[in-house]
Amino acid sequence: MSSNRSESFFASAPRGLEALLADELRALGAQDVAAAPGGVSFSGSWETCYAANFHSRIASRVLWRIGAFGYANEEDVYAAARAIHWEQHFPVDRTLRVNLTAIKSPLKSLDFTTLRVKDAVCDRFRDAVGSRPDIERLAPDVRVHCFLEHAKGTFYLDTSGEPLFKRGWRHAAVEAPLRENLAAGIIRLTGWKFDEPLFDPMCGGGTLLIEAAAMALNEPPGAGRNFAFEKLLSFDLKSWNRVRDGRPPRNKLRPALFGSDIAQKAVESSKKNLMAAGFFDLVKLQRADILKVEAPAPAGVMVANPPYGERLADADAMAAFYPQLGNALKARFAGWRCHFFTADLRMAKMIRLSPSRRVPLFNGALDCRLFEFVVVAGSNRKP
Ligand SMILES: C[S@@+](CC[C@H](N)C(=O)[O-])C[C@H]1O[C@@H](n2cnc3c(N)ncnc32)[C@H](O)[C@@H]1O
Repeated sequence: MSSNRSESFFASAPRGLEALLADELRALGAQDVAAAPGGVSFSGSWETCYAANFHSRIASRVLWRIGAFGYANEEDVYAAARAIHWEQHFPVDRTLRVNLTAIKSPLKSLDFTTLRVKDAVCDRFRDAVGSRPDIERLAPDVRVHCFLEHAKGTFYLDTSGEPLFKRGWRHAAVEAPLRENLAAGIIRLTGWKFDEPLFDPMCGGGTLLIEAAAMALNEPPGAGRNFAFEKLLSFDLKSWNRVRDGRPPRNKLRPALFGSDIAQKAVESSKKNLMAAGFFDLVKLQRADILKVEAPAPAGVMVANPPYGERLADADAMAAFYPQLGNALKARFAGWRCHFFTADLRMAKMIRLSPSRRVPLFNGALDCRLFEFVVVAGSNRKP
């Protein structure tokens, strides 16, 4: 297959970050870039697709669009799947998984429809080459995605494999880590400039710090992993080598990055993850309570993801915490732009500082906000 032919793709992303993803894709040379809820469609060569997988910090997956169809029932979906030349897209010895998502679909059982798509792909292979691919749920070589709307559907082949937020550096587990692509989007939304100090005082496993460091140093997020496009028959090694070898040199600058957490275990996890990512020497880490910690510089960008009180007891504890946090910022962070990413929408009121920005974002299905508080000595305190 010619690698210069224009193909259609859809890159998915956490909701709220579609515009940032569209900017990224345009910068990588994508054409016909159009944001939709949950992602961005674009067209481009295979090389553009490889570059999107390798360089995008925001995308969750890049899907290759291979067919669209109309349907009224499960058998229409089966027939549409069977009509696709799957054997021309991947070899029969690759393991397979079928994913199906639907919005406003009239079909009664999506599980049954998923099975029918799987049957159709396997039947097509049997007809074409006399055998069928094995199914593998956890780590398949090839993922077929079927997306159903009210009366039409689309088939995609996944070009990413493991989702792109899995960069390969996460070794130490913490409670409620942010996904790497959401963390990267949050850093971008703060407007942080690489020569400003950046401080995460609730750093957990260090996700925000690692994404910030990778951005400042121009380290491609995909540098340490493999991709599903390498297992498709369209795979073009020359184009892929051009993408990998054409990566920009590491920036020489040394961003001023600071992290702390009240839990020693979290500080240790950040340390391990930073080491695995190769950024440990860039970040000053300490154990500290955000309510007592001193600002590490006279001005800068604070970005943090406080625990979210889902249980009532936690919710009460957070309600008591926010006004104290407001006092701490006021006392020690005048000159800082402070950003908090949370699903607790009460925060903006309870902290008793006026947010200068509130950006709606989703963490999975959870409605969240990124609040910005510009802390100016002696001012924006609400009565
Ligand atoms: C939701 S987690 C942050 C996860 C992190 N963004 C990541 O991706 O790994 C919240 C963190 O806040 C920390 N924390 C809770 N109360 C704190 C306080 N008063 N001062 C500093 N850290 C605190 C917890 O120990 C926890 O690691």
